[in-house]
Amino acid sequence: MRQGCLQQVTDVAWQWTASAYLGYPGFRPGAGAVGEYNGKFMSGQMSLRGGSAFTPAGHARATYRNFFAPEKRWVRAGLRLARDHAPAERGDEGFAAGVIAGLSAKPKSLSPKYFYDAAGSDLFEAICRTPEYYPTRTETRLLHDIADALVAGWTADTVLVEFGSGASDKTRILLDACPALRTYVPIDISPDALHAATARLQSAYPRMNVVPLVGDFTQALSRPETLENRPCVGFFPGSTIGNFSPDEARELLRAFRHLLGTQAQLIVGADMVKDEATLHAAYDDAAGVTAAFNKNLLVRMNRELQGDFDLDAFAHLTVWNAERARIEMHLVSRRDHVVTVAGQRFRFAAGERLHTENAHKFTPESFAALCHDAGWAVARQWISPAPAFGVFVLS
Ligand code: AVJ
Repeated sequence: MRQGCLQQVTDVAWQWTASAYLGYPGFRPGAGAVGEYNGKFMSGQMSLRGGSAFTPAGHARATYRNFFAPEKRWVRAGLRLARDHAPAERGDEGFAAGVIAGLSAKPKSLSPKYFYDAAGSDLFEAICRTPEYYPTRTETRLLHDIADALVAGWTADTVLVEFGSGASDKTRILLDACPALRTYVPIDISPDALHAATARLQSAYPRMNVVPLVGDFTQALSRPETLENRPCVGFFPGSTIGNFSPDEARELLRAFRHLLGTQAQLIVGADMVKDEATLHAAYDDAAGVTAAFNKNLLVRMNRELQGDFDLDAFAHLTVWNAERARIEMHLVSRRDHVVTVAGQRFRFAAGERLHTENAHKFTPESFAALCHDAGWAVARQWISPAPAFGVFVLS
């Protein structure tokens, strides 16, 4: 669709877009009249793209803004029939680029964020219902037990911001404990999961102002307007933090602090180091749900990037990496073969691994050190009885 639009840049009619003509994040208006002028008069503009049959040669652009004197007849209205741009497609270029980079790397690896298309989000929900996957159940129970302590001090003014909100199930524990809360900003990479969750929450909590944000929280997010001059609480449950390397996790926590403001609190759920057998089982359940979740990456590449992965040519593998305190998930090639995806060919040797996820596990000490390095301090913490899972309040 987007490619189609680009090809039509030199078409007969302008393309109106829905993107506001705003500054880049961090942009500051110039001093004096220019800044004032841009702020007052340009801030309400939208970007146009393309040109019309009347646009002078060489003036069509992929994005464009200009003043059009009517008698010049540059702005010739036309009618364009376009298919709705599904929000999921926005990630397309990122996915293709990520896949090409990841499959070209040695060893081959892909970011776990690519798991979460609509089917992957559903499979993750199914993992949470397997008897072996203890983190969700354990964290949920813990959140119930400590909810009153977590929401102490929240007011009608407080904004709750969740990073990677998914189905927003755990959020309800906080909303139920704090009926005064009015504003919730769920951020998720999966538009389908986000919009379904928003609809459910909005009908269960009609007085709540739910402001969903489709986005990849690992990329710079601009600060939602809703947060301006309000006390903010970040919520990052599920041990999603464990998906990141220590360096990435530190940068992520720093970015959250930047987004939320230095007065904010951040509630983080983090899974704790425990015996290997419990960990292995959690990431390799007997019913094969986690294996299906892992292989869904191949399904997604086949569908979205015209791949020809044979699902039977790969096996699900989990490894406990003791040195780095993490569970790793891989897809292991069962034979020597070549796969085409995103227009490129990649060779998999027999036994070669595609590394798809890390789930780091923490100790109270390792977690506190990580937070400290990111400019946060652990204000309170609760660790569940075995299987140990931690909830930390950072400030
Ligand atoms: C959602 C990242 C916390 O690492 O435990 C579950 C994802 N992967 N089973 C985790 C996951 C395999 C999960 N997180």
